[in-house]
Amino acid sequence: MNSEKIEIFDTTLRDGEQVPGCKLDTEQKLIIAEKLDELGVDVIEAGFPISSPGDFHSVSEISKLIRNAKVCGLTRANQKDIDVAAEALRFAKRPRIHTGIGTSDSHIKYKFNSNREDIIERAVQAVKYAKTFVDDVEFYAEDAGRTDNDYLAKVCEAVIKAGATVLNIPDTTGYCLPEEYGEKISYLKENVTGIDKAVLSCHCHNDLGLATANSISGVMNGARQIECTINGLGERAGNTALEEVVMVIKQHNHLQLYTDINSKMLNSMSVLVSDLMGMPVQPNKAIVGANAFAHSSGIHQDGVIKNRETYEIIDPEEVGVNASTIVLTARSGRSALAYRFKHIGFDVTKNELDFLYREFLKVADMKKEVNNDDLSAIIEKVTRKIG
Ligand code: KIV
Ligand code: ZN
Repeated sequence: MNSEKIEIFDTTLRDGEQVPGCKLDTEQKLIIAEKLDELGVDVIEAGFPISSPGDFHSVSEISKLIRNAKVCGLTRANQKDIDVAAEALRFAKRPRIHTGIGTSDSHIKYKFNSNREDIIERAVQAVKYAKTFVDDVEFYAEDAGRTDNDYLAKVCEAVIKAGATVLNIPDTTGYCLPEEYGEKISYLKENVTGIDKAVLSCHCHNDLGLATANSISGVMNGARQIECTINGLGERAGNTALEEVVMVIKQHNHLQLYTDINSKMLNSMSVLVSDLMGMPVQPNKAIVGANAFAHSSGIHQDGVIKNRETYEIIDPEEVGVNASTIVLTARSGRSALAYRFKHIGFDVTKNELDFLYREFLKVADMKKEVNNDDLSAIIEKVTRKIG
């Protein structure tokens, strides 16, 4: 089968760090950047160099360190931002400048007090200027999700002519429906002259919980880069979660797409970012949450014990988790109990299990989870009774 590659653009260190209450120092950013490079991301957006001296320093140090991934710095569409980004990226082996401007009517009117023609002109000038420093220039049309497709196509055409090699189509406010976002990408593919010279990129926010679905819809309609963050961290409700899009693509061969991500590192990558950013991962988070491979109801446990595939679509080892877990609760059945007893060294008979199960339920009704110490105590109690 002829699969096509989806480039993974990680923006944990830029959009992800915009999470309220999060601050990483340069040392921490270097640790994350190095691990992202090892994970196999294609682009690391290292920061927004003009935003602070600290951010400039981080982008500069990351540029010196990273040998595989492209290192990218964000700018607004003005010369000063671009000068500073180019300077911060000076030591990068594969530098990319990511410049852009708001294109929705709301951004044009309220942020820039401007008009559509002027926005195109500023976009073109920014791309041309960035091109004087680097070959690899990505352009973002901020709030593209709420920009009408006809105007968006004009913006894209103009910046491609000016030299942009990647076109970022952000759903900045997380507004689009998957079908709508996919149609936007498809419209640009069909209506922008010169589109074959540029890669379309999805950058989706999660305000309606649709960031992953929208990004997947984007690549199903021709985008070839996804911008995402570890654990879906980012402004407000966050960005597209890297681990989710990578596993959707991996689990759905029929899409005929692939990424270069080493999925076995996803769990440890998630733990690292969560620890350094001080942002706990919600237990039910897809792929990397503590409960992503935990089974607690009797029916599910019985199925998983018989064959993992009954209730798991991913082998936990594929994402770096040793094994799925059987959590004992008052909802658990006999087979889960026998399984866990076996696990701690007690091979119980069917008759013994009946006694044990009754005792187990008494304990389980008083606790959220029955642990191994509880199981040993139950064994001891029942042995004394029977003995
Ligand atoms: O969400 C967005 O529009 C952005 C751009 C600055 C790329 O993060
Ligand atoms: Zn964003």
